[in-house]
Amino acid sequence: MSISEKQVKNALKSVRYPGFTRDIVSFGLVKSIQIEDGEVKVQLALATSDPNIPASIKKDAERALRAIEGVRSTKVLIDIHAPPGGAGAGMAATQLPGVKHVIAVGSGKGGVGKSTVAANLAVALEQTGARVGLCDCDIYGPSISLMFGTRERPTATEENKIVPIEQYGLRLMSMGFLLDDTSPAILRGPMVTRYTQQFLRQVEWGELDYLVLDLPPGTGDIQLTIVQTVALSGAIIVTTPQEVALIDARKAATMFDKVNVPVLGLIENMSYFICPGDGKRYDIFGSGGGEREAKRLRVPLLGQIPLDIATREAGDRGMPIVGEDRQSAVAQEFLKIAGRIRDAVI
Ligand SMILES: Nc1ncnc2c1ncn2[C@@H]1O[C@H](COP(=O)(O)OP(=O)(O)OP(=O)(O)O)[C@@H](O)[C@H]1O
Ligand SMILES: [Mg+2]
Repeated sequence: MSISEKQVKNALKSVRYPGFTRDIVSFGLVKSIQIEDGEVKVQLALATSDPNIPASIKKDAERALRAIEGVRSTKVLIDIHAPPGGAGAGMAATQLPGVKHVIAVGSGKGGVGKSTVAANLAVALEQTGARVGLCDCDIYGPSISLMFGTRERPTATEENKIVPIEQYGLRLMSMGFLLDDTSPAILRGPMVTRYTQQFLRQVEWGELDYLVLDLPPGTGDIQLTIVQTVALSGAIIVTTPQEVALIDARKAATMFDKVNVPVLGLIENMSYFICPGDGKRYDIFGSGGGEREAKRLRVPLLGQIPLDIATREAGDRGMPIVGEDRQSAVAQEFLKIAGRIRDAVI
């Protein structure tokens, strides 16, 4: 009986990337499959500096392949690239001490609701009993301090580390806490990179289960600097349903791919609108865009957040909707997403 490529792929789907519930196929690590007379040869590619990861994947992949009926021999070859920025030891992404998982929220396109999603997701994760921090990495338009209704200035420790602000049970840090409203315009180019790196490494987070990073819009140098400075567990991409946003979501996915950060999934924001007057649903930006894009990127669609007046008002008032009204449909959706993220990173 001949072995099909589909059988091989299915077998490889049982192999998880160490530390994740996602499998090596959905992470896009499988580069080629060759089958000849019961001999299966699989080529994988990954970027890591941890030798245990390829060793563990190789062992699990070979075991999975041997379990296929008709397989006589297996060969799993792994192409290992050094992680980006890992050329010199000092350049490698920093593991933040005490922080278990760092999750970046990005979008590509601006104004799609990244900060709103990051803030609500952080509160939702906290409500599942986790210790959570939220970091606003947008130097030009910091919004987390606004969304959490605080202008408190962080203090510094004797070692010159910055202590986050505590608000609603979360630890918050924002470039907006350090800069006054006018100063961001002065920071440009390489200075922004240096400032961002220094900022990310200098915060004293303490013990956290999750640190959510609210990225600035776009996929330029600043975003790349951030995702290369801190070792990330994964990224979430926020998009709205229309094509212009989806194109940029794709760019964001490519960026994370390039630096070998797994995309945990897509969140579609402003998915639809339920009119308070007639209770009817309106797909203002079209429908199905997020789902199609998630399929194309082969990542899960983690959730769909409606365009919602209370959500915007809560954000403006300084208390994310998940904290303000836990029973609301939007809050429930965020709690569902938080559960999915907890399941995805272990
Ligand atoms: N689901 C939603 N329903 C209603 N309003 C929303 C929703 N999501 C975001 N908004 C509103 O849209 C505006 C932009 O959202 P937000 O600041 O979160 O976007 P962003 O992607 O972080 O923007 P930027 O690219 O500037 O960082 C805010 O006023 C916010 O309250
Ligand atoms: Mg923002």
